[in-house]
Amino acid sequence: MHRNLFTLWLLLLLHVSGCAMKFNLFDRKRNPSLQEGDVRLFGGGVADGRVEIYHDGKWGTVCDDDWDMAEAQVVCRQLRFPGVKSVETGKDYGKASGPIWLDDLKCQGTENYLSTCSFTSWGATDCSHKEDVGVICEQSGSNVSSSDSPYSLDHSISLSDERAQLFDSANSCDFSISVRSVTGNTQEDGTPEVFGLTICTHKLILSQFPLFNASEGITGITVDVSQTCQPHFSSFIRYIYTHKVDVTFSSVQCLHWLAYKFGVMQLQEDTARLFTKILPEDASFHTQVSLYEYAVETEDFVLQENCIQYLAWNYQNLTTSPAWTRLSIELLGSLLLRSDLVVPDEYFLLQTVESWITEKGNLISLETQAELLSRIRFSMIPAKALYNLESNSSLYSTHRNMYREKVLKAFQFNVLLLSNLMSNPKFDREDDDYRTRIYTAEPWSTALTHLQNRKVYRNQYDSTITTTWLSTPVHNSLIFKSNTIRWEANVFKYQHECSNRGVRCESFPSARLAPQNRLTEWSNILFRNRLLLMCQGKYICQVQDFKNTMATLNGTHFLTYPCPDDQYVYHFVVRPEYV
Ligand SMILES: *[C@@H]1O[C@H](CO)[C@@H](O)[C@H](O)[C@H]1NC(C)=O
Ligand SMILES: *[C@@H]1O[C@H](CO)[C@@H](O)[C@H](O)[C@H]1NC(C)=O
Ligand SMILES: *[C@@H]1O[C@H](CO)[C@@H](O)[C@H](O)[C@H]1NC(C)=O
Ligand SMILES: *[C@@H]1O[C@H](CO)[C@@H](O)[C@H](O)[C@H]1NC(C)=O
Ligand SMILES: *[C@@H]1O[C@H](CO)[C@@H](O)[C@H](O)[C@H]1NC(C)=O
Repeated sequence: MHRNLFTLWLLLLLHVSGCAMKFNLFDRKRNPSLQEGDVRLFGGGVADGRVEIYHDGKWGTVCDDDWDMAEAQVVCRQLRFPGVKSVETGKDYGKASGPIWLDDLKCQGTENYLSTCSFTSWGATDCSHKEDVGVICEQSGSNVSSSDSPYSLDHSISLSDERAQLFDSANSCDFSISVRSVTGNTQEDGTPEVFGLTICTHKLILSQFPLFNASEGITGITVDVSQTCQPHFSSFIRYIYTHKVDVTFSSVQCLHWLAYKFGVMQLQEDTARLFTKILPEDASFHTQVSLYEYAVETEDFVLQENCIQYLAWNYQNLTTSPAWTRLSIELLGSLLLRSDLVVPDEYFLLQTVESWITEKGNLISLETQAELLSRIRFSMIPAKALYNLESNSSLYSTHRNMYREKVLKAFQFNVLLLSNLMSNPKFDREDDDYRTRIYTAEPWSTALTHLQNRKVYRNQYDSTITTTWLSTPVHNSLIFKSNTIRWEANVFKYQHECSNRGVRCESFPSARLAPQNRLTEWSNILFRNRLLLMCQGKYICQVQDFKNTMATLNGTHFLTYPCPDDQYVYHFVVRPEYV
């Protein structure tokens, strides 16, 4: 099994063996496996936890003697967080069981890896697990998530408080639940180390959910959960008593899974709804990536699509996030297949994939590298970058044949008219290589906010219309370079603004992207333009089609991902396609 490969955020290992894992294209080296000296933060939220380091095939802890910000700085840097908030000593991150690997550690604060700081030797310590050190790292972007702030789910029923007391006291309990989790470490004799915990409960309460088997003659059950889920099991059972629970980043996935596992429908639905709500909140992207992996494990296709769509829309931020180098090959591969990937241009995408591969080094086979690179739509790479690809691309020499073939195809696309392309038996208009993604760089895109970049007209109602203009070639193919279209982009907030323009608006706000030239001479080209809503300048919360030059938006319930106060910037993107 590949249990060791799962990092802190790839949760919920139970029954992995029973569920068919389908990763068609790639070798099974998902998440290039753990390496000597890897660190993780365990038992906390996204950016905090007990410091653990991987050595000799085992996760172990670090003693807090002499710890200060310099050591913490190195941990946060190694995990690609932008900085450190604090060192935590004596904080309870759950019971640690493995070895204590490091003691009397001295870092300058500039090291990239904790294991390159100075220390006596691995495992040489006089500390106990009580002295395990914890760290809270700073996160980029929004700081909403740093506190791991809880959402309260409250469907409290009669006697909730009394039931809470009953659970907490375990008075006259008659049904025991043994929770077991594999720590990820191997014992001396080669068997996996298991950590256990027993909760005593009441048959009468649990019997409303048959999957607990809390019936006549049965006195208890044993449940296997992952180590990261184990600390939340008790909250789950408490919810069964009270129908109330505080859900956090670190617990939502676990609670969802337990609810699913034991048929607690209401909790399952509520936590599923929270997933979409929390996606934008984690600027480190660990949550989005781990939820995607979880959705794959549990074959929850809706959640899978929900996560990957968020990642596709916010790809640019993903590439600068701490989660970027931890992305599995499958996930990156899936992203590269999508036409709704929002990127400045295709060359940017190629560069990010090249640097991702380069950073992984030999962990990825040449075959897989080529497979990933071949998903770049070379025909869409701006011609200027295409000319310099041989000298500018870091992997060109490694994959010379693949690049050559792709570049040749791209040049053909750029110099031939559609009619000439069609006579080539190899040209297939359905080929993704000839399709645009959502390109936000010039000349394909323009943005409108209500504070800048705007043109204000006074009209009879004394209100404002926001308008801007944009010029694009008719098509991405270079032969259309000098055939340009001028577009007018508007955002309408009121009916009379639409009427004054002679436009029909169905609801408000509405956005319009209208060509100022006649398009009839380009009968082979269709425009599949998009409107992007960027929330508070931080993340893309909605991507919308233009239908007959109009895109309609109506209220927050319209958004795929939430945006407080409807504070968005409108990005208009032109996308021509051969038809
Ligand atoms: C970030 O945190 C600080 C202090 O904790 C708070 O004052 C500020 O409002 C937060 N910013 C955001 C965007 O939540
Ligand atoms: C409940 O009983 C069934 C049938 O004996 C068994 O397959 C299942 O694993 C049990 N569930 C738990 C949680 O022990
Ligand atoms: C590619 O390389 C050329 C010189 O070989 C350089 O002038 C150009 O700026 C580079 N382009 C990009 C996009 O890096
Ligand atoms: C927005 O949508 C709601 C529900 O679909 C509708 O009742 C309302 O009239 C719409 N508002 C506007 C301003 O179009
Ligand atoms: C995404 O990147 C932009 C620009 O670098 C930054 O302003 C924004 O805060 C980032 N958003 C998140 C969620 O990290």
